Amino acid sequence: MLLLPLIGEDIYTTEKIFNENHVSKGGFLYSLSSQPSRKDLVDFDIKVYTLKNTADSNPLGYVKVTLHAHKDVSDSELLYYEDVSEALYISQCAVMKNYQKGGLGKVMFDLLFRMYPDKIFLSHVSVRNLPSLKLHYRHNFKKLGVYQSEDFYGYGGYVSDLVIRHPARGS
Ligand SMILES: CC(C)(COP(=O)(O)OP(=O)(O)OC[C@H]1O[C@@H](n2cnc3c(N)ncnc32)[C@H](O)[C@@H]1OP(=O)(O)O)[C@@H](O)C(=O)NCCC(=O)NCCS
Repeated sequence: MLLLPLIGEDIYTTEKIFNENHVSKGGFLYSLSSQPSRKDLVDFDIKVYTLKNTADSNPLGYVKVTLHAHKDVSDSELLYYEDVSEALYISQCAVMKNYQKGGLGKVMFDLLFRMYPDKIFLSHVSVRNLPSLKLHYRHNFKKLGVYQSEDFYGYGGYVSDLVIRHPARGS
């Protein structure tokens, strides 16, 4: 498996992966603005990586990371004791519906953290999203606290674990 930077022709597939995992379909992806887009291809503060069998195949999943957490997260008092100025924020990750529960999420995270061995990662995950919580905690994310929003991209009562992953010591 390979984790490769998004290229223009992947947009169609990543859009499909987003759509089939959108909250309107019972999934946990909320924001259209964090769906991978053509704009991301030229934005230096955003990296979208696709998980592929080979360089030429279609993406089976994607992870989008930004160089800064979005403001309501980075302003959170839960981060008071952390230096997250250089942290990477996972703004979205998803695996194609037909391939979920098959270990691809794990592979994708393994490859991502291998790519950035010295980075702190931040993420927040809905408390109802068991697969994603497991995925994060299996990869040594620690819970900083609960992040709540009454209006999360138009959806009420969003409650999530705000989680942080420090680089392994000695790496
Ligand atoms: C979250 C997501 C990326 C995980 O990818 P995946 O390929 O399905 O995950 P994996 O098969 O690697 O499994 C990861 C863990 O979740 C568990 N898991 C997977 N699907 C599950 C399910 N439906 N119910 C309960 N646990 C589940 C696995 O057992 C594994 O846990 P373990 O390490 O304790 O065995 C995928 O479910 C997805 O795309 N979800 C929709 C989008 C989304 O919610 N993104 C995250 C937003 S924060």
